[in-house]
Amino acid sequence: MNNFEFSNPVKIIFGKGQLVKLTKNIPLDKNILLIYGGGSILKNGVYDSIKEALKNHNVHEFSGIEPNPRYETAMKAVDIIKLQKIDFLLAVGGGSVIDATKFIAAAALYAQGDPWDILSKRSPVKAALPFGAVLTLPATGSEMNSGSVIERNSTNEKLAFGSPHTFPQFSFLLPEAAATLPKHQVANGVVDAFMHTMEQYMTYPANAPLVDRFAESILQTLIEEGPKAYENPANYDAMSNLMWCATMALNGLIGCGVPQDWAVHMMGHELTSQFGIDHARTLAIIAPSHYRYNFENKKQKLAQYGERVWGISNGTMEEKAQNAIEATVNFFHSLDVNTKLSKYTDNYEGTAQNVAKRFNERGWVKMGERQSLTPADVEKIVEMSY
Ligand code: NZQ
Ligand code: ZN
Repeated sequence: MNNFEFSNPVKIIFGKGQLVKLTKNIPLDKNILLIYGGGSILKNGVYDSIKEALKNHNVHEFSGIEPNPRYETAMKAVDIIKLQKIDFLLAVGGGSVIDATKFIAAAALYAQGDPWDILSKRSPVKAALPFGAVLTLPATGSEMNSGSVIERNSTNEKLAFGSPHTFPQFSFLLPEAAATLPKHQVANGVVDAFMHTMEQYMTYPANAPLVDRFAESILQTLIEEGPKAYENPANYDAMSNLMWCATMALNGLIGCGVPQDWAVHMMGHELTSQFGIDHARTLAIIAPSHYRYNFENKKQKLAQYGERVWGISNGTMEEKAQNAIEATVNFFHSLDVNTKLSKYTDNYEGTAQNVAKRFNERGWVKMGERQSLTPADVEKIVEMSY
């Protein structure tokens, strides 16, 4: 097992009828900015429950955070924060709203220059406004981590940052509110949580059997419960399990002591910024090619995954590993998630070269769990995904 440090300060409040506890979790003297997206919370009752719970607090509002949240929009919220002297943020919605809130929290207190540097130059975040989250979409894990991904319209770039200052203080997890999700968003959630687990698991053996089994249990639960939630988002039990899986998949626990990859996400973000493809679907496009291309490096874990998660017991290690990749593809297809770029756009020619060029320009020249993946490899993987 590798050395690690693990600290996660996020308080989780899970389940039905929990929003009444909001009032206890935000001091009465706070001047709050309630941040949300395109209005799903107005339709599923979450907005009303929050307003009721916070009726004795001073609450301002900022709406219109887009899926794949934009820097330009986030900066408008920063202006309001300065004008209204806001000192607490409440993010309500999916990963995009929570990610935007993390960036807004950091940008509002950023004194070293242009807040875009936090993303483009990884300029360190030295402080951030305190914030909490109310989650209505299981997928990203943003509710229990300190990471955030923001896109800039003017440059078409989608970049990530993270800081110990951008953990939510608390997160309410509301499987009941997720009942109103369109089915394709539930599929996105299953695939994103699955791929978060895979990015931390599908590497090479590191003598970390406990962490391996944490990861395998998340994958198995997603395979069992994900299709039920996809079939009927109002299935509270299935949605509850999906939501907790998604949170556990990216709160740091299953990354302890093991090598991590994340190249699938790096390539996937480029497909979102170039074509607007949903985040999870970009991962489903890239992952199979990534595992085929890096087969020699990953085949031991692929075979272990095949055996333990998919019950593949026949064949050589290589055959089990190949069949495990096929089982993964079939699982994504069973959720109506396509795994080829050409199914999403006719304009895919040249994409691989563009992605490789951008990685070179940013100096992203050593990726993957062995730091051995180069932009030239990335070009081949993206091309295999057409
Ligand atoms: O904007 P509203 O009206 O709320 O509608 C949203 C949005 O249109 C809707 N929605 C959310 N909850 C709903 C609902 N509709 C009906 N009923 C509900 N209960 O769903 C749409 C998509 O929401 P979004 O927040 O964009 O989805 P998701 O949670 O999948 O977040 C995706 C973003 O997270 C980033 C992605 O890159 C992407 O920008 N990621 C963040 C990570 C992190 N912070 O750790 C890790 C991930 O790998 C990922 O990169
Ligand atoms: Zn993701």
